[in-house]
Amino acid sequence: MRIEVPREAERLGATLFYGVQQVYELDAGLVRGEAEALDRIIQPVAYEAIEAVCSAMAVVVPVRGERIKLLEGVLAGIPHACLVIVVSNSDREPIDRFTLELNAVLKYRRLTGKQVVVVHQRDAVLADALVEAGYEALLDESGRVRHGKAEGMLVATLLAALAGKRYIGFIDSDNYFPGAVLEYVREYAAGLLARHSDYAMVRIHWHSKPKIVREALFFAKFGRATVVTNRFLNALIGYYTGFETEVIRTGNAGEHAMTMELALKLSHASGYAVETRHFVDLLERFGSILENPSPDVLDQYVEVFQIESRNPHMHDISKGDRHIGSMMAASLGVLYSSPICPPELRAEIVAELRRRRLLRKDELPPAPTLYPPLERVDLEAFAEGVAGEPFTAALLR
Ligand code: GDD
Ligand code: MG
Repeated sequence: MRIEVPREAERLGATLFYGVQQVYELDAGLVRGEAEALDRIIQPVAYEAIEAVCSAMAVVVPVRGERIKLLEGVLAGIPHACLVIVVSNSDREPIDRFTLELNAVLKYRRLTGKQVVVVHQRDAVLADALVEAGYEALLDESGRVRHGKAEGMLVATLLAALAGKRYIGFIDSDNYFPGAVLEYVREYAAGLLARHSDYAMVRIHWHSKPKIVREALFFAKFGRATVVTNRFLNALIGYYTGFETEVIRTGNAGEHAMTMELALKLSHASGYAVETRHFVDLLERFGSILENPSPDVLDQYVEVFQIESRNPHMHDISKGDRHIGSMMAASLGVLYSSPICPPELRAEIVAELRRRRLLRKDELPPAPTLYPPLERVDLEAFAEGVAGEPFTAALLR
């Protein structure tokens, strides 16, 4: 891979947001010696280096009722060296879709020898282990892990921690292009290799999203929810730095990766608010606006890389527009409810959501459910709770 170094950055307290980086070659060939890599605005990243990051990375694939063919394509795109954690919330009746997924994944594992773990987030064993580990926040009234993508991501993060992985990346299971999946994971690795801190995150900014417009393909560049989320996140940063900025381009990036140190420190939001919450959480806790609870992070910085992928992003679009509105409301709700959101911005958020008819006149933006950082989980107790399960055998291999 050949990738530009970030040209701009915004800093607030101990958070460092880098501008979007372009990828110039998906494959930069062999990197011959240090000389090529030094003092260049566009840097090659060696195969071996990417492979080394991949072998320390768990790639989490959340799935809920996707077509098996899509899931199989996603698995095919993930580099062999990664540990794959498929975390499902698919229905078990009237048709047991989870068992269909399980069988497909196990067959895939036999054929490729790739390390793949499959777990259902509503499995009672997981819920019991979380109770033992002192992390009941994730459970609902029925005593099981709550429904939701973010909830699945949190369970998978704990499993990756048990497997001793240094990095964790997320790839949606409804991606039509295995080649895009491969690219995203390599970009995760390239970003993580460029980090200077133990606390780093890489977010993918899609090159484009193909759609049919007037019977022809149109490559849309800006996600509808993302554009709005980015505008407000940038306004928030500008408010505190005193300089207007466009640095944030990945407010809703479902495709992202981070160091395990950072994943365990963040407080995550439920559902589709999870990605926007990353930014708000970083600013709340490390932006030196409020009191900082983690002096270890202040010593270093939290680095956020944003990389623009080359493949178009093509996911299942049959889910409809209704979904975009709720994603926008959830994302802005995260910002609105934060103690660092200034009153002017709050008023603008309310106006925006009302204009889009996502809020009624007498309503205020929804506050997200927030989960405490996973570093509170007693990992040993959690490991004991899940010991002997088929998914842990593959984890600890
Ligand atoms: N484990 C689990 N549990 N997975 C889930 C759940 C759940 O309750 N709900 C959805 N998923 C899986 C889906 O199967 C899919 O692979 C992935 O999570 C994302 O869900 P989608 O429903 O496809 O979301 P989207 O495509 O509208 O939004 C994506 O992109 C946004 C950015 O534009 C998501 O990644 C969002 O989180 C992201 O903000
Ligand atoms: Mg999708």
